[in-house]
Amino acid sequence: MMYDLSGRVAIITGAASGMGRASALLFTRAGAHVVVADLNTDGGEAVALEASQLGPRAVFQRTDVAEESDVEALVARAVDEFGRLDIMFNNAGIGGAVGPLEQIRVEDWDRTQAVCLRGVFLGIKHAAGPIRAAGGGSIISTASIAGIDGFPNLHAYCAAKAGVVNLTRSAALEFGRDRIRVNCIAPGGILTPIVYGAEANRSAVEDMLARGQPYPRAGQPEDIASAALFLASDAAQFVTGHTLVVDGGATAGAVALAPKPGANQPPPPRRFAGPSFEQNTP
Ligand SMILES: NC(=O)c1ccc[n+]([C@@H]2O[C@H](COP(=O)([O-])OP(=O)(O)OC[C@H]3O[C@@H](n4cnc5c(N)ncnc54)[C@H](O)[C@@H]3O)[C@@H](O)[C@H]2O)c1
Repeated sequence: MMYDLSGRVAIITGAASGMGRASALLFTRAGAHVVVADLNTDGGEAVALEASQLGPRAVFQRTDVAEESDVEALVARAVDEFGRLDIMFNNAGIGGAVGPLEQIRVEDWDRTQAVCLRGVFLGIKHAAGPIRAAGGGSIISTASIAGIDGFPNLHAYCAAKAGVVNLTRSAALEFGRDRIRVNCIAPGGILTPIVYGAEANRSAVEDMLARGQPYPRAGQPEDIASAALFLASDAAQFVTGHTLVVDGGATAGAVALAPKPGANQPPPPRRFAGPSFEQNTP
């Protein structure tokens, strides 16, 4: 195993589904004990069971990441169960308030911030002590390319995820001396239930996502899990305060002008673009 987590203890929030689930399975295969945390009890228990069959024992703890007492209890569970904490992956999220800005209700705005941004703050706040006591470790949060670029009708989510990006930086400054690295991942469009909703929509959404960026396939939860494994492992020991973009090139540049995957457009003919005034000289 290239990125070994043997003997490490990790908490992963939002691990009942999608990229959190993929990360729980990968971290366990890499040798870590994992505490699977989620609001979804059935899904979380199923993932903990599945993970336990792949490597060291994993357990489920029902958690609302927006509630400070739940996050405190989650961190305490990891330490009680496995004796230490090395890795905190703040990954839980919701789409939250979607739609035109003028129609957003304040309570929907607030709940979006509470889950997507306060949840990350609480995860860092309560995990830092035990990770420090373990001699250092890694805190990872899931931001989004919507925390870097604006996206229409996703105002609350864009603001929360931009908050995650910069909270990552300020926390990295504070915790570097404790050998606690703080990074985030900014996924592009990834094929998970947050995007496709009902299982029946999955394949249509996969086709749509496959055309959403230069790399010609849909992003998969395992793409994010492997980025998280890198950041969790000693391979990333000198990486902190970083936002790791995993988006198949969606934010690489002038994507609107790039060839569309599968469109089979011929490339433009070779030419040399010299000084523009020469083009107007007969
Ligand atoms: N899928 C994408 O295209 C995409 C892109 C960028 C960022 N993200 C982010 O990735 C992260 C993971 O999402 P996903 O795509 O795997 O979606 P998902 O819906 O499959 O997984 C998210 C999990 O978070 C859990 N959750 C929601 N609110 C919670 C709360 N208050 N407390 C605890 N758990 C809670 C859900 O029950 C679910 O299991 C989220 O932070 C999301 O915003 C997703």
